[in-house]
Amino acid sequence: MNNEIEALKLALQSSPNNLELKKIIHAKMCIDRLTYNEELFKLSKDIHDIDRTYIPAVESLIRHYFENNKMSTSELILDNYPEYEVFSEEGLITICKLLIKLKQQDRASDIYKMIIERNPGFLDEDLDPLFRVSQVDGTGDKKETPFLQKPKETFKDVGGMSDVKREISLKIIKPLENKSLFEKYGKKIGGGILLYGPPGCGKTFIARATAGEIEAKFISLQINDILSMWLGNSEKNLHEFFQLAREHTPAVIFIDEIDALGMKRSNFNSSAGRNVVNQLLTEMDGVENNNDGVLIIGATNSPWELDSALRRPGRFDRIIFVPPPDKESRETILKLKLKDKPIDRIDYRLLADRTSGYSGADIDAVIDVAIENILEKAIETGNTPLITDRDLLTALKHRNPSTREWFNTVKNYTTFSNKSGIYDDVITYMKANKIL
Ligand SMILES: Nc1ncnc2c1ncn2[C@@H]1O[C@H](COP(=O)(O)OP(=O)(O)O)[C@@H](O)[C@H]1O
Ligand SMILES: [Mg+2]
Repeated sequence: MNNEIEALKLALQSSPNNLELKKIIHAKMCIDRLTYNEELFKLSKDIHDIDRTYIPAVESLIRHYFENNKMSTSELILDNYPEYEVFSEEGLITICKLLIKLKQQDRASDIYKMIIERNPGFLDEDLDPLFRVSQVDGTGDKKETPFLQKPKETFKDVGGMSDVKREISLKIIKPLENKSLFEKYGKKIGGGILLYGPPGCGKTFIARATAGEIEAKFISLQINDILSMWLGNSEKNLHEFFQLAREHTPAVIFIDEIDALGMKRSNFNSSAGRNVVNQLLTEMDGVENNNDGVLIIGATNSPWELDSALRRPGRFDRIIFVPPPDKESRETILKLKLKDKPIDRIDYRLLADRTSGYSGADIDAVIDVAIENILEKAIETGNTPLITDRDLLTALKHRNPSTREWFNTVKNYTTFSNKSGIYDDVITYMKANKIL
C-alpha cells in the first residue's frame, strides 16, 4: 500500500467529483501500477468518461485492454486518437505492441519510428528485431539491417586475418580489458578502422565477429539506409545511429559500402552526399559527442571511390587491406565451414592448396555445390554418402576464384593514384602472389 495514494483516496471520498484530484491519484497509481492494477483501470475509465482529452487515462486503458488480450477494445479506444504525437513514449511502446498483435505492421513501424525519433537510444529487445531496414543489394540478396544486433560469432570463427585481428585488438579489445590504464594516459577506447579488399574475403564477417568478441552491440549501416531512411533526413539518421551506439557502449558501428558516400558513384544528388560525408566526419571526430567505447569499422570493395576526407587522421586512421585468405586461412575456413557437416576424412591441406585466389565466399559456394551434388546422388540412390575431398575437388572445377577480377581493376589505381601510399599493401600482396 502506498500511504500517499491511500490518503488521496480518502480525500476523494469527500469530494467524489474532483476531476483534478482523480488525475493526481491516477498519476501516482501509474507509478505503482502493479499494486493498483484493477483500481487504476477503474479510475482511468472514470476519468476517461468525463475527460476524453486526458491522455494518461487513455494510455492506461489501452494498456489494460492490451494486457488482458482485448486487442479490439484497445484498438477502438486508440482509433479516437489519430494524432499519435499526443502519446507519451511509454504509451507509444504499448501502442506499437498492440498494432503488431493486430498485424498492422505499417502502422506499428510508423510508431516505432516516432519512438526512435524522440529517443534515439531507445531499445526494446522484443520490438527492435521486428523493425529492420530491409535492403536489396546488387546481387539481389536481401540484407537485413537491424538497428542493434548482438552477434554470436567471435574471432575464433574467422580464419586467418591476423593483421586485422591485431589492429582491432589494439583499438578496442585491449583498451576494454585495461580500462583504467588507458584512462590514466588519456587514451580513448575505440576509433575508426577502414577495411578494403576484394569482395567475399571477410570484411563484414570480421566486423561482426569483433562485436561478438567483446560482447558489444553491433550496428550495421548500409549507406543506402542512411540516405533513404524514413525521415528523409540523412544527417539526422546518421546522428541517431551514432547516438544509439554511444548509449550502448561498447558498440561496433559497421558502415558497409562506405565508398557509396564518395562523390563519383553517387546515385543521389551531390550536395546530399556531401552533407552526409560531413555529418559522418562530425560524428567520427567526436568533438561534440563522446565516442568512447565506440569502434567504427568501415568497409569497401572499391577504395578508389572513397571520399578522401574520410582517410584523414582521426577518422579512419587505420586503413587495412583485407586480402584473399592465404593457404592457412583457407584451411581454417574449410574446417570451420565443414565442421558440422557429414564429412569423411578430408585432406584440408590439399584443398587449401587447390583454392588459391578463392575468397571465403567462394569457398562457401564450393561447399554448397558439393553438397548439392551429393544430395542429388542421395535422392537417386537412397544412400547418404559422406562428403569427401573428391566431391569438393569436383565442385571446385565449377567455380572459379573471384578475386582476380578485383586485382585487375585495382591495378590501374595502384599505378595512377597511389600518392598517399594507400595501395602499398595491395602492391606488396600482388608482387608476393605474382599477380602483378
Ligand atoms: N576469414 C574468414 N573466415 C571464415 N569465413 C570467412 C572468412 N572470409 C570470408 N568468409 C566467409 O565468406 C562470407 C563472405 O564474407 P564477407 O564478410 O561477407 O565478405 P566481404 O564483406 O569482404 O565482402 C562470410 O559470410 C563467411 O562465411
Ligand atoms: Mg561485406
